[in-house]
Amino acid sequence: QKIRLSDYRPPAFLVRHVEMRIALHDGHAAVETTIHARRAEGADPAEPLVLDGDHLSLVALALDGTAIDPRRFDAAPDRLTIRDLPGSDAFALRIETRLEPETNTELMGLYRSNGIWCTQCEAEGFRRITYFPDRPDVLATYRVRLEADHEAAPVLLSNGNPSESGDLDGGRHFAVWDDPHPKPSYLFALVAGRLDVLRDGFRTASGRAVDLAVYTEPGLADRATYAMDALKRSMAWDERRFGREYDLDVFNVVAISDFNMGAMENKGLNVFNHKYVLLAPDTATDADYAGVETVIAHEYFHNWTGNRITCRDWFQLCLKEGLTVYRDQEFSADERARTVKRIASVHGLKAQQFPEDQGPLQHPVRPTQYREINNFYTATVYEKGAELVRMLATILGEAGFRAGMDLYFARHDGDAATIEDFLRCFADATGADLAQFALWYDQAGTPELEVQESFGDGRLTVSLRQSLAKGAAGTGTEPMHIPVRFGLVGADGADIAAEPVAGAAEIEGDVIHLVTAEAEVVFDGLAERPRLSMLRDFSAPVTLRHEQSREDKLALARLDPNGFGRWRALSDLLGEALRAAAVAADEAPLDPRLVEALVECAAEERLEPALRAQMIAIPGESEIARLVGANVDPEAVHRAREAAIRSVARAGAERFRAVRDGLSRSGEPFSPDASSAGRRALGNALLMFLSAAAAEPAEAFAAFRDADNMTDRMAAATILAHRFPGSSEAEEALDRFHDAFEADPLVLDKWFTLRATVPDPATLDVVRELSRHPKFTLANPNRARALIGGFATGNQRVFHRADGEGYRWTADRLGELDRLNPQTAARLATAFRSWRSYEAGRREQARAALSTLAARPDLSRDLRDILDRTLS
Ligand code: ARG
Ligand code: ZN
Repeated sequence: QKIRLSDYRPPAFLVRHVEMRIALHDGHAAVETTIHARRAEGADPAEPLVLDGDHLSLVALALDGTAIDPRRFDAAPDRLTIRDLPGSDAFALRIETRLEPETNTELMGLYRSNGIWCTQCEAEGFRRITYFPDRPDVLATYRVRLEADHEAAPVLLSNGNPSESGDLDGGRHFAVWDDPHPKPSYLFALVAGRLDVLRDGFRTASGRAVDLAVYTEPGLADRATYAMDALKRSMAWDERRFGREYDLDVFNVVAISDFNMGAMENKGLNVFNHKYVLLAPDTATDADYAGVETVIAHEYFHNWTGNRITCRDWFQLCLKEGLTVYRDQEFSADERARTVKRIASVHGLKAQQFPEDQGPLQHPVRPTQYREINNFYTATVYEKGAELVRMLATILGEAGFRAGMDLYFARHDGDAATIEDFLRCFADATGADLAQFALWYDQAGTPELEVQESFGDGRLTVSLRQSLAKGAAGTGTEPMHIPVRFGLVGADGADIAAEPVAGAAEIEGDVIHLVTAEAEVVFDGLAERPRLSMLRDFSAPVTLRHEQSREDKLALARLDPNGFGRWRALSDLLGEALRAAAVAADEAPLDPRLVEALVECAAEERLEPALRAQMIAIPGESEIARLVGANVDPEAVHRAREAAIRSVARAGAERFRAVRDGLSRSGEPFSPDASSAGRRALGNALLMFLSAAAAEPAEAFAAFRDADNMTDRMAAATILAHRFPGSSEAEEALDRFHDAFEADPLVLDKWFTLRATVPDPATLDVVRELSRHPKFTLANPNRARALIGGFATGNQRVFHRADGEGYRWTADRLGELDRLNPQTAARLATAFRSWRSYEAGRREQARAALSTLAARPDLSRDLRDILDRTLS
């Protein structure tokens, strides 16, 4: 049951307009849908109409006002087939279905979360509400009438603009919503319930007044002020940067507790996981604030890249997701600090996308086949997809990129488009030939970029070589267009402007365009040997293998005028040292020159604190495991990392103390802005080193006790729990944390994760016990992710225990979760994606645990797909 891109056929029937009447009751919902449709031009006049369904039961069916003869249709739970429809005339088909939102634990379609009715339709949830051609290339306008008990649901929301509303008999009321913009069914949404609201407004550049609202569960609207602020900044930014204005009279956001993903861009009615809306200094970390800002922006930006221009089919998912991630990254870069944002994105890409691209779940940015589309909302589609858009911007330059985007918006507004359509706009707007670039969408895997340099007689020769290994996806390995941003750094720390001698590779400004498997670039007339700063700003998603001396890397760590280049030099040096130590299973201290460079960076006053915090971060255990690549021993990884932390901590203790003292701004009220957050990030990174140097928990405990915001409290609690497990300070901090925040689900999630990630073998018993905690439930995706995901992806040492108990515990939980919520189970199962890179004993344990799970007869298609690919 594979769906293939090559099987794409345009729809046989087009829907012009949809009318819905949805009556919500305790225990059930009655749905009446009228589809105004006609056969597509050129379609076979004898072809039956086949509508998608998913666990539906049909109540009634009428064509143009008359019940249809039962011999003319077949209604199965997953399909409604109707024969003998008009050859060319328009018709109206009325479908009645009956749903049980309360028993919908998959959280797809219409469900109830804490009493609130809400929907999630992307990718294929609308077919759980009514029979419909549930595919993104069928676009229609919608008019939706909601009815519910006034007490249970004073607020009734759907897409578009509000129209009539009023009272009905029996304490019920109704509201009608009109969405004038044709949209695919996956953007349908409704929300109904008792909700509080935060209201504001925005006037667009052309003068449209937009009513903004963020809805929350009762009593929480005051936690939505930052989200509202981020929304208004997003609206202004999209006008400024891309000339895109909002197009309805209202924009509504709703925060929901039970949600499978981050958020959803339904037209005019974005529905969010409440984690990406609700914030308060006492409950949310700086990372939470940044996450809310990003996700609010992301969903808002979808209004143009996703909604007004949608995808022809789900293989084109990156058309909206990669592009929208690129846009939200640019927004954060503009609103915060560009280099810091870029480093964070690259760090995330390497942690999430690289392992996916190099393991059994590998797939191209535009996949060509799938069994379950929900399993393709991946780091490859989203984050690598964004990198491809970024490369386009690098290759075409700012003006060329903007011209291509303008053409895309003008040419495809109202369309369901493809990657080819998108690329053609850039080619047409700039005259560029993007045929080779297009390979990035089809060839899976992380290309390697090898760089060698030689210098003599004032001449620097740089040789570049690209290669791409065939991986699990089995896609092509042709040379691609790799834009390589670079700089030649002089001894004074300034870029040397050197003219390239004509060579095989084309150079434009500070970008080498590598379009062949191998190329050489020569720079002449150099007075000194420069340090070569390669792949600045991570201008392409490749693995760089630069044969460069440690001296040069250390020099770049100090001197590179490109902040990203400095960070990369340090992280390469650290990564290499830790990889080598983990492979050799030794605890040799770090090269003192590297330690010195880290300490210097921490103290470098003219650098933003946020950047300093990133520069001194010691790679995490899963990152080191990825660098080791094969036969990983997680115990050796853990010891290598601890040894590195100790050597930096001891050498830096005194300076770190001084820097940390200098950062404190006691008495100042909390502010979540980027520079305050950066100071906290650096201060807490230093507190970790200081605690490691002292080898005792007193300072962290004091920091925990005195914290006046969640960032500092969480950082101190993590140091206590992770570095001093079992100490009375750690126990007391965890208990206080639990007791203070037990009633706040988002903070309690942090507590579950904090405990599940303690890198101590005893944590296995802890997670067993936590899964019986009265507040633990698999029914809430955030809680399930906090414990199971926290453990399986955040605790290398214990998840990968040699006896396989970590694997078995996780697999058992996935089996239970799959019966309630296949999508979340499948997502969590990707924690096993790198199992083959561990040493033989663990490999066997992982294989056994996965095989036992895969042998269950009743697995969902979602989980089965992930397990089959992971084991294959
Ligand atoms: N379109 C949403 C977003 O990225 C995410 C939807 C995820 N859907 C899914 N089936 N996993 O903003
Ligand atoms: Zn998205």
